[in-house]
Amino acid sequence: MISSYVSLKRAGSNLVGLCPFHNEKSPSFTVFPATKGFYCFGCGVGGDVITFVMKAENLDYIGAITHLAKRCGMEMPENDFQKNDPNAVKKSRIYAMNRDAARFFHDMLSRPEGAAGLAYLRSRGLTDAVIRRFGLGFAPDDFHLPKPLFVDHMHRLGYTDRELEAGFLVKFSQNKRPYPLFRNRVMFPVIDTTGEVVAFGGRVMDDSKPKYLNSSDTPVFKKSRNLFALNLARHSCAERIVLCEGYMDVIAVHAAGVPCAVATLGTAITAEQAHIMARYTKEVVIAYDMDAAGRTAAEKAIRLLDSVGVKTKILKLDDAKDPDEYIRRFGADKFRLRLNDSENQFDYRCNTIISAHNLEDFNDRMACISELTKLLSTLHTDVERDIYIGRLSEKLKVSPESLKNDVVRLRKRTVKQEEKNALKKELQKSEGYGDRINPEKVGNRLAASAEEVILGILLLYPENLRGITEDTAVRRGLCEDDFMTSFNRRVFSFLREQMLQRGAFDIGYLGQSFGDDEIGRIVGMQVARSRLTKNDMDVLEEMLGVLRAEKSKRTEENSLDALRAMIERKKTAGTTGE
Ligand code: UTP
Ligand code: MN
Repeated sequence: MISSYVSLKRAGSNLVGLCPFHNEKSPSFTVFPATKGFYCFGCGVGGDVITFVMKAENLDYIGAITHLAKRCGMEMPENDFQKNDPNAVKKSRIYAMNRDAARFFHDMLSRPEGAAGLAYLRSRGLTDAVIRRFGLGFAPDDFHLPKPLFVDHMHRLGYTDRELEAGFLVKFSQNKRPYPLFRNRVMFPVIDTTGEVVAFGGRVMDDSKPKYLNSSDTPVFKKSRNLFALNLARHSCAERIVLCEGYMDVIAVHAAGVPCAVATLGTAITAEQAHIMARYTKEVVIAYDMDAAGRTAAEKAIRLLDSVGVKTKILKLDDAKDPDEYIRRFGADKFRLRLNDSENQFDYRCNTIISAHNLEDFNDRMACISELTKLLSTLHTDVERDIYIGRLSEKLKVSPESLKNDVVRLRKRTVKQEEKNALKKELQKSEGYGDRINPEKVGNRLAASAEEVILGILLLYPENLRGITEDTAVRRGLCEDDFMTSFNRRVFSFLREQMLQRGAFDIGYLGQSFGDDEIGRIVGMQVARSRLTKNDMDVLEEMLGVLRAEKSKRTEENSLDALRAMIERKKTAGTTGE
């Protein structure tokens, strides 16, 4: 199953490959056939096959199970899984409803009520094939009819007003009558990577406002987690993704023979979207609008994509405000040429600095040089620095030697600062700072490590659980109270509960009670242990000892503190004469 996403090689009893969730050159992604788990030593993701599908396909728990069931050609026992989840019933209804709505909008284009919509789309240069590929449509202007066409159609198909409202398709008038939210707009369905219609965008056909209306978040849609057209782009975007601002840009870029374009949905790019792209591609070409807002947005995109290890390039388009306009004006061939020599982000930053200064003015030129020197000093290799120094000294009319001197001087300082920062980060990490999953690790480092070893062994060999939790002649059995950090305590309780209820444990169960990152951490504990061979029962006893010693030390410290506080209070009470 996982091997259809990652090519895996055998390494001992495990399988290893390049992690699909972050960019890496040497394989740290590991699959453990024994526990049916996976873990990446590089980025810390881990879990079982279900967690894997959730991450790889950007699905929730139930979505992942459905996906797996579909792959195996199994009929999905929907209601069984959805019993515990009151929202879930609605979800499958909303998927079906969205699909029917999309079909309604699309069919409108071939009816008299939709003639204006078809004419508009054609006026924007879209062929019938493109309209079909993107499933575009038209929402008629039927607010004033006795019963809006759309509402009537959806009622006939059996959807209730409540369902239509939950899916962001209708609202209610003052006299409680449902009316469609999308009216007199051309419609762009948003389709997720499993082919479900999850949302819509609708554009007016004139200059009225808002230009685009987008679905709000619904039970099946989170704006920050979806990318328009990723369903189409995913098949051809391993080398690069072209990231656009708008629906029309994406469509124009696809139509120009570049089928790897996507767009964020009416918002600036989010960290989640950057993560999604990192999963699909090595490089993102940012093709935002050529205005100030587009530049600011591009800076943010570069930052977010950089932090997930994706290379970025900026597409610069002269004499056009966005890709759609460029293609319309200069043609698909010219666009593809531009795309292939789009600037990299470093060039882009240099140019931004240069164009912000007036090089004819002495002071301004000095300021410009100083900013560029700073930027150059962040380059990591001599070769890179030399290339840019050569290029820029020409542009700025300064000698390469003097520019180089400045850069080298600054570089020394930057390196020192970078080293200091790295050291600080390392130190904090070892102290447990910034651990979002188990924040109590700070100040409880020893105890937390002992807990992790104990949990690692128990997760790997849950049959040891009984032995360690039982009281013996020499010690009390391990119990919840022994855990000093609440995350680890939760893991222990969960494991214990599972063993009591089912007499067995499987990573797959974790999804019910833990989030993705938490599951990664838990599998990490298990995996860390699986690489060691030592008598587990002995290690367990030893770690239990460590845990208890830490606890009594802490209790002692606390009671000493309490004693001190009491003495302080007595003293102040004495001096104020109470
Ligand atoms: P633009 O205003 O640049 O529109 O908004 P556009 O994509 O060039 O559209 P056309 O070419 O005029 O048809 C860029 C994107 O921002 C979002 C949409 O996703 C749009 O595609 N947007 C814009 C909204 O969500 N709402 C708006 O009112 C405007
Ligand atoms: Mn446009």
